[in-house]
Amino acid sequence: MELFPLQSFLLLILLISLSLYLYLHFFDSSNKHKHTGFKSYPILGALPGFLKNRHRFLDWTTEILTSCPTSTGIVNRPIQIRGVITANPANIEHMLKTNFENYPKGKRFISLIEDFLGDGIFNSDGELWKVQRKTASYAFNTKSLRNFIMENVRVEIESRLIPSLDIAAETGRRLDLQDVLERFSFDNVCKLAFNVDPNCLGSGGGGKSESTDFDSNLNPDQFMHAFEEATTLISGRFFYAFQFMLKIKKFFNFGSEWRLKQSISTVHSFACKIIKSRISDEQLEDHQDLLSLFIGIPENTNSSNFLRDIVISIILAGRDTTSSALTWFFWLLSSRPHVERAILNELEMIRVRNGKSIGDIYDLDELRDMHYLHAAISEAMRLYPPVPIDTRECLNDDVLPDGTAVAKGWLVTYHAYAMGRMERIWGTNCREYLPERWLTEDGTCRHESVFRYPIFHAGPRICLGKDLAYIQMKSIVASVMERFVIDIQDRDTCPEYLLSLTLRMKGGLPVSVRRRRFNIVEDLKAMLLEIAGVYATHALRQSNKIAHRHARYVFSTTCKCSWFEEPLDFVCGVLLSEKCNC
Ligand code: HEM
Repeated sequence: MELFPLQSFLLLILLISLSLYLYLHFFDSSNKHKHTGFKSYPILGALPGFLKNRHRFLDWTTEILTSCPTSTGIVNRPIQIRGVITANPANIEHMLKTNFENYPKGKRFISLIEDFLGDGIFNSDGELWKVQRKTASYAFNTKSLRNFIMENVRVEIESRLIPSLDIAAETGRRLDLQDVLERFSFDNVCKLAFNVDPNCLGSGGGGKSESTDFDSNLNPDQFMHAFEEATTLISGRFFYAFQFMLKIKKFFNFGSEWRLKQSISTVHSFACKIIKSRISDEQLEDHQDLLSLFIGIPENTNSSNFLRDIVISIILAGRDTTSSALTWFFWLLSSRPHVERAILNELEMIRVRNGKSIGDIYDLDELRDMHYLHAAISEAMRLYPPVPIDTRECLNDDVLPDGTAVAKGWLVTYHAYAMGRMERIWGTNCREYLPERWLTEDGTCRHESVFRYPIFHAGPRICLGKDLAYIQMKSIVASVMERFVIDIQDRDTCPEYLLSLTLRMKGGLPVSVRRRRFNIVEDLKAMLLEIAGVYATHALRQSNKIAHRHARYVFSTTCKCSWFEEPLDFVCGVLLSEKCNC
């Protein structure tokens, strides 16, 4: 009896405290999110917003960062985990360079993917990372590796990529360009990492299937699929709203965690087999790949697991990045005939200067001379960065240059995708695809600060494969564009993206391919259509009837397509006609 009033009293106190807490938190957060960006709720933090916008995570976070005064937002995740997302170049310089030691990958990131990557360069900090970085930087900068890369790219283009596009052009078969490019880069990076040719493009991309270096028990697609599955499932671990759910799945080893274990085991056992045979290979110096370089360095421990981890890290780092960049590039190009023409003109100029013909592979110096192409690819990555966000963990309390306080243990993410859409960085036309913004007056491609354009990361951990990536991407684009026209059916609808470690296109990029005809009639036709386009634009802007008549005349003498009278159809007609192949 006596206890009852005490219980009621305690309950009352509890209710009052809870209401006060909820009120203060709501009141507090509704005011605070105006400055910190992300609306926060008691206990749940920003989770409701995240769940509502999960399918458009990058655009949602971009909108919020754009509204923040310094392009930096604070995110309260459920159960008091806090973090910062920033698109501010000064903050990025601080975390990736000036105060590098304070922003490692961190235990949380490392523990999420260590069953796949072990202590590999991509997944380690401190001394473990430094040792691998030193070895890998040395290897990436050797002349022999550069030649090896050039040769691999040449072989892959000539014997697989071009034949598979040729077949598609001949048969009219539609291709998933993203898949073709992913197969290309997987073949390429496996050659680079351990001189193994999985022949994924030859076997599944429509080209000829050749003999491979693979063990007969493991077909090429199996290894690629195991790698792909492991990467997809492991990146899914980052998007759990509640990490304890992942822990339960891991503990009981069911669902995606069970599948992940199987695919990791396939990848690991394959890599170990190659490593063992290479270590005992007496002709080690005949191999020029990274694994052989690592084995050949005397001070290396050469433990099988060390080598396995570094090789798998490199395959992961180089696998989907170039294919992601080129998939978005080809989509952007499909609705910009003037950019396509500028690239073709540049290629022609280089061919004429060096006495080359269409189909010859370009050497390093010629690739370096492709400034417009370099600009066009860099611009595509500005809008669609292959690694759209990247996260570090704060080691000790700190204050970022824009004044944002960061506490020990917070996750700090830089948002390269949002940065490409910031007027503060790129001006009012930031959302437009304009390769010209990269060109200097003399037509060379200008250098951009890595902190405004952190596509390849920055500071001591800057991407090691940047040069290799440009070699690969420019060689592919030049060879494909010279010989083929890529038709993308739905080119005016922006494809949806898939959130994984890299920015992939949801559903791939279905295309059809035509052989490009290079003759004087085609060139003349293209030129006349350009002229019709200029008249048409003038006619529309100035309501100029004479320009309209000229456009109509030039168009109808060049093209068999029907003409349009209405102003809007009129422009569409001319724009379409630029691609017209009648
Ligand atoms: C367009 C292509 C590429 C882009 C945009 C790109 C971007 C990046 C980014 C953002 C990072 C930092 C990741 C992190 O630490 O969280 C990185 C690291 C790295 N990249 Fe690339 N990359 C590309 C191609 C390649 C290629 C082809 C290779 C080599 C095969 C490569 C090798 C590496 C390595 C080894 C690291 C780890 C460096 C370290 O932690 O010290 N990358 N890259």
